[in-house]
Amino acid sequence: MSKSVGPANNFESLLKETRVFKPAKEFAAKAHIKSFAQYQRMWTESVKQPEKFWAKQATQELVWFKPFTKVFQWKEPNAKWFTGGKLNVSSNCLDRWLDTDLANKAALIWEGEPATDGKPGEERVLTFKQLHREVCRFANVLKRNGIQKGDRVIIYLPMVPEAAIAMLACTRVGAVHSVIFGGFSAQSVADRIQDSGAKMVITADGGYRRGAVVPLKKNVDEALRITDAKGVSLTQTIQKVVVLRRTWNEIHIEEGRDVWWHRELEYVSSHCPAEKLDSEAPLFILYTSGSTGKPKGILHTTAGYLLGAKMTSKYVFDLRPEDVYWCTADVGWVTGHSYIVYGPLANGTTCVMYEGAPNWPEPDRFWRIIAKYGVTVLYTAPTAIRAFMKWGEEWPNKHDLSSLRVLGTVGEPINPEAWMWYHRVIGGGRCPIVDTWWQTETGSIMITPLPGATPLKPGTATLPFFGILPEVVDDAGKAVPRNTGGKLVIRKPWPSMLRGIWGDPERFKATYWSEVKGSYFTGDGCRQDKDGYFWIVGRIDDVLNVAGHRIGTAEVESALVSHPSVAEAAVVGRPDELKGQALVCFVTLKTGQAATHELKAELRNHVGKEIGPVAKPDDVRFADALPKTRSGKIMRRLLKQVASGMEIKGDTTTLEDLSVLAQLATAED
Ligand code: WT7
Repeated sequence: MSKSVGPANNFESLLKETRVFKPAKEFAAKAHIKSFAQYQRMWTESVKQPEKFWAKQATQELVWFKPFTKVFQWKEPNAKWFTGGKLNVSSNCLDRWLDTDLANKAALIWEGEPATDGKPGEERVLTFKQLHREVCRFANVLKRNGIQKGDRVIIYLPMVPEAAIAMLACTRVGAVHSVIFGGFSAQSVADRIQDSGAKMVITADGGYRRGAVVPLKKNVDEALRITDAKGVSLTQTIQKVVVLRRTWNEIHIEEGRDVWWHRELEYVSSHCPAEKLDSEAPLFILYTSGSTGKPKGILHTTAGYLLGAKMTSKYVFDLRPEDVYWCTADVGWVTGHSYIVYGPLANGTTCVMYEGAPNWPEPDRFWRIIAKYGVTVLYTAPTAIRAFMKWGEEWPNKHDLSSLRVLGTVGEPINPEAWMWYHRVIGGGRCPIVDTWWQTETGSIMITPLPGATPLKPGTATLPFFGILPEVVDDAGKAVPRNTGGKLVIRKPWPSMLRGIWGDPERFKATYWSEVKGSYFTGDGCRQDKDGYFWIVGRIDDVLNVAGHRIGTAEVESALVSHPSVAEAAVVGRPDELKGQALVCFVTLKTGQAATHELKAELRNHVGKEIGPVAKPDDVRFADALPKTRSGKIMRRLLKQVASGMEIKGDTTTLEDLSVLAQLATAED
């Protein structure tokens, strides 16, 4: 056990992980970055001479209509990258491959959700040429329906190729898309339309989810009827709704406002030159929940974002032309933007896109898809990995996963136990795991191993990507010593950073640029180990203070999950007269494990043993499931209320399964 007590404003980091996995020689030999020394050399250059580094990368990686004249301008908190240049994202993802060997290679391989009767799902393949044609046609549909450069367009679609087509078509005409995850409610759609001032919604009659139909168009109709207290429509800016036919359920069509996607295509040609857009032209707005409830519209712009997405895809996943790459995220999240659509296509990569759930109709859905298409790179989330562990190894073991060569994770800290399982059971012990730390705001991966270069340690995102300068600091903004917890900040601007919160410059400044002077504040707690590796210990707001010891929730959760009976754990604080805060743990068990009093005692002792007596939980509660957002993040805010016996308040619209909360509230102590 390593224990380091820092100044009172830092927190203690108690978990120690000592396993190291070096890149295999054969892998490194063929990789883009072949050694740790090469990584270090390039990273050092990139932060010592950022202008030179980024100018070279932007020239080499992107296709420009007009070259940029200035690399970057920085007037905190406003950044401008590659000014003077003109380019287009869709032509960087598509047109550039048309006169190459890749033109007739698969760009998207789409696998539909299997039917309820057990029949396999549909399958569609779009080559780069075909995808280009569909994007051009739909871009003409946008224009035909009044969309011009700078207009905002809401995309509210299921995981079908048309989601990518709609996004790329927006970029082609210079419209700013805002994708809303298909699981969000009518109210969320209305709020986002109102905030963005969107002119159009692109949706579908419905989407499939575990055999049921999600009534997307009906939600849009409802959203468009919502008014404020004075009876004023929240969505009055909407002029057109384009409806894709997917589930064939009956829907209402409002004459003059609603048009069918397939009908519109009959009127347009497949010729649509890409708009020549400024480097800083707004590209998309993506809403992410803020601590105060009102979602923040994170704004990304054209050149810098694309460069970040492209470079990180290439180096982090070590992409090559023959790869079959699969990112399991939804396009409604930033991961789907950067690592299903823009990053991979800009690299000419073949991407798998899957419509359904991982356990529908059976828990081996992912492994079936990997075997079917010979997937080589898999990018998923720790929450999914823990679910797979819970369902058991027999499911992946039924399938041939030998095509895999790189595994990735994103979304939250991956506990070492889940990392080891992923490595052994899915990766067959041979695939490097890239644990990638980043945020909606950062646009692309910031802290990550490079698979041919970085020695891996289970549970850490390791070291910064090129050009990125993260640091762990105390409340005064001073770097803390190694192995001391603090706030994670980023010291220098980078090309794919957010350019603002849509319509709210004050909040932008207050949220990201006021906490630590001169640096971007990530909101995460972190420590660096003796080798400089970054260990994220959770959101800084979630750090607990137990009897004067500040403890990161992720570490206690990790310790719990390292017990053989535990599938998943969430740890929150409850006000405690004596200790300030008491540690309350919510635990789900692996299939077949019984929730007994003995096990509770055993788990408390287990944590005490793993990370020390201060972290010994005061309370362990068993549950069938934990309350999660649709993107798989545990909703700690709600668990805190449950732990303190409070009434559940605040927005629960992003909750995956409401019944979970009722069960947690009544779970006996
Ligand atoms: C927050 C950002 C960025 C894509 C998906 C989530 C947490 C993300 C990791 C990781 C530890 C991670 C952080 C971060 N997070 N990846 N590899 N290790 N924590 O995007 O919804 O904007 O969330 O997710 O807390 O700040 P997001």
